[in-house]
Amino acid sequence: MEYADRTKKMKASEIRELLKITQNPEIISFAGGLPSPHSFPVKMIEKITDSVLERHGAQALQYGPTEGLKELRELLIKRMKKKGIKCEMDEIIITTGSQQVLDLTAKIFFNVGDYLIVECPTYLGALAAFNAYQPNYIPVSMDDDGMKMDELERKLEENKNKPLDIIYTVPTFQNPSGVTMSLERRKRILKIAKKYKLIILEDDPYSELRYSGRSVPPIKSLDKDGIVIYTGTFSKILSPGFRLGWLIANKEIIKKMIIAKQGADLCTNTFVEWIAEEYLRYGLVDKQIPKIRKMYKKKRDIMLKALEKYFPKGTKWTKPDGGMFLWVTLPGHLDTKEMFQEAIKEKVAYVHGAAFCVDGKGHDSMRLNFSNAEDNKIDVGIKRLAKIIKKLMK
Ligand SMILES: Cc1ncc(COP(=O)(O)O)c(C=O)c1O
Repeated sequence: MEYADRTKKMKASEIRELLKITQNPEIISFAGGLPSPHSFPVKMIEKITDSVLERHGAQALQYGPTEGLKELRELLIKRMKKKGIKCEMDEIIITTGSQQVLDLTAKIFFNVGDYLIVECPTYLGALAAFNAYQPNYIPVSMDDDGMKMDELERKLEENKNKPLDIIYTVPTFQNPSGVTMSLERRKRILKIAKKYKLIILEDDPYSELRYSGRSVPPIKSLDKDGIVIYTGTFSKILSPGFRLGWLIANKEIIKKMIIAKQGADLCTNTFVEWIAEEYLRYGLVDKQIPKIRKMYKKKRDIMLKALEKYFPKGTKWTKPDGGMFLWVTLPGHLDTKEMFQEAIKEKVAYVHGAAFCVDGKGHDSMRLNFSNAEDNKIDVGIKRLAKIIKKLMK
């Protein structure tokens, strides 16, 4: 038996392995990327489920169209319009989470050995999806305003003779850094993509979760040339267990995506599509999101306050206006991967920064999730982490 070349290169996600360790209830975990279990509207879903079975019965249990339920797409078109994104019925499809969009994009665009631009650090799940198609990564570093555009342009110029189609970005409350790309850079990335004839893959799971600051329009809303593939998800505003997302792109790309999706799963889960349809149709989403925001804002504030209180001089961290993560950087001589064992002994967990970086950097950084831990554990957890860092800094 011999596995395919792409399979040989697949490795277990570092986070998955690490989450197994952090399942010990004594450990305060800032490692996972999970929403709070208290953010799920269980009772509401119970009622919607009854209603879906009553109103749509067998249809909700049947296969559906590959492009997704028409009724849900119509409602999403209206919702996206409020964000400044205009699209028609043949420019939007429902997907099995936004994770599927990452996979389908790679599937339709990447030949083995193609190049693609990613932020550094970037979303680990995207690397897992892309890796199966064996691309080469060109990392572009970030600052407090998101991906650095001068560096992007320089690297594109350096690599202009290589096969390169996609710039992947999570521009709003990025996972893992919590950073948001400025409006100026959003305009600039579009100009750059146009100049080099590239597609921007805009992954936007977090923009609804804003707790402070002013909202920034999605890159897709500024896209006059149809060069942005946009993906959104119900995972952070309803339930990740539903595995429900959507994809907006120009008609031509959508046609290819539908063919690719057909081969992947025939259609998205019809039953949960109907549940999401009711969730949107009756405005329940707009009752639920403020509750989630309130819950996570409190958690973010507790974490930021605790970092301020306990973390030693020489450490720094991002101060995200939304999302679920922040990024801590320690003095350069410390290695967060090595420090992890100490952290587990002290019963606190995080994800080391190098896991998110394709350029071998990030060893001095870590991602902290603030949405999942209970409020009263956050301060204690940060205090434990601070103790280890202070010890190692000596
Ligand atoms: C940046 C980013 N993209 C995509 C996903 C996948 O989301 P979904 O549950 O919609 O597949 C996640 C999940 O955490 C994420 O953080």
